Amino acid sequence: SAAEKGGYDYFMLKEIAEQPKAVADTLLGRIDESGRLALDEVHIPDHVLREVNKVVIVACGTAYHAGMIAKYAIEHWTRIPCETELASEFRYRDPILDQRTLVVAISQSGETMDTLMALRHAREQGAKVLAICNTNGSTIPRESDAVLYTHAGPEVAVASTKAFLTQLVACYLVALYLGQVRGTKWGDEIHSVIRELSQISTEVEKVLATMEPVRELARSLAEKNTVLFLGRHVGFPVALEGALKLKELAYMHAEGFAAGELKHGPIALIEDDLPVVVVVPSPRGRSVLHDKIVSNIQEIRARGARTIVIAEEGDEAVVPYADHLVRIPATPTLLQPLVATVPLQVFACELATARGNEVDQPRNLAKSVTVE
Ligand code: AGP
Repeated sequence: SAAEKGGYDYFMLKEIAEQPKAVADTLLGRIDESGRLALDEVHIPDHVLREVNKVVIVACGTAYHAGMIAKYAIEHWTRIPCETELASEFRYRDPILDQRTLVVAISQSGETMDTLMALRHAREQGAKVLAICNTNGSTIPRESDAVLYTHAGPEVAVASTKAFLTQLVACYLVALYLGQVRGTKWGDEIHSVIRELSQISTEVEKVLATMEPVRELARSLAEKNTVLFLGRHVGFPVALEGALKLKELAYMHAEGFAAGELKHGPIALIEDDLPVVVVVPSPRGRSVLHDKIVSNIQEIRARGARTIVIAEEGDEAVVPYADHLVRIPATPTLLQPLVATVPLQVFACELATARGNEVDQPRNLAKSVTVE
């Protein structure tokens, strides 16, 4: 009913709008006054976490994209080797796991069969499993050694939005906590990132307040057949997520690429007026990354692409090459997905509406996939 949707036309719109609160709720009570993380609820003793020598993340779909981003964060802040794998592929390749492996299973519903089978396999091999889950008491957390709940509240729309942002928050918490417990050379950075993370819901709010041009742009592209998405570093999984949203909602051919891979093949796809969304990393800090992507934008534009550039406030270098520019607030590099994903969700939702599609219940899809 309209009341259930809180006055929005679709649950998806309501859930996109709820993201600042979902993010804040997922942080609530997990950072103490001194700015340190307190995750006692996880129930894996610190001495066990200190012994971990490999992290393996398993998940499907959007949750898998959160896991891809987690890999960048975990390896950077903890120096523990981390791999992220599609849950449906995991157990069939006889993965190497033992008592010192921490497996992180990410799932909104907690009922996804592929993820459940992957975690069962991991536990049989003696690995410890930590679930990141949005549904209290569901099967995946019940069968795991420990759970860190996301507090997104019920997500009704099939396309995941607020659950994704809270999965990211939970992944950052796990990465930062591992860093905190083990003590790495990134101690100061961990401290300052925790501070920025605690403020991030305000930044998500700012993005939501500036989405009208994105909706307008989406409507203008309703007749297109293909949209490509490019990113580097954590912007790459964000590009994949933007493409997944567009596939499931707008039924358009959408693909995400690592921008550096363009020249190895995908650049052949670029033709006149093809919309290409580019997620641009911050020009501060890792400026090498930024310079590389600016030249990627130049390359595709020279070949006729219509560039839709998502870039940080104050990034002037992209301006000459952006046919459409979407501004997002400045954040630490690793946290950027929390703000960069939002315009892509709004874009997909509006395009689906413009094409007359059922936003909350896309064809052929179920909210949770309980078969392998
Ligand atoms: C996202 O928009 C999807 N509908 C889908 O990819 C989903 O994220 C995936 O099926 C995993 O679900 P889960 O988080 O409930 O395990």
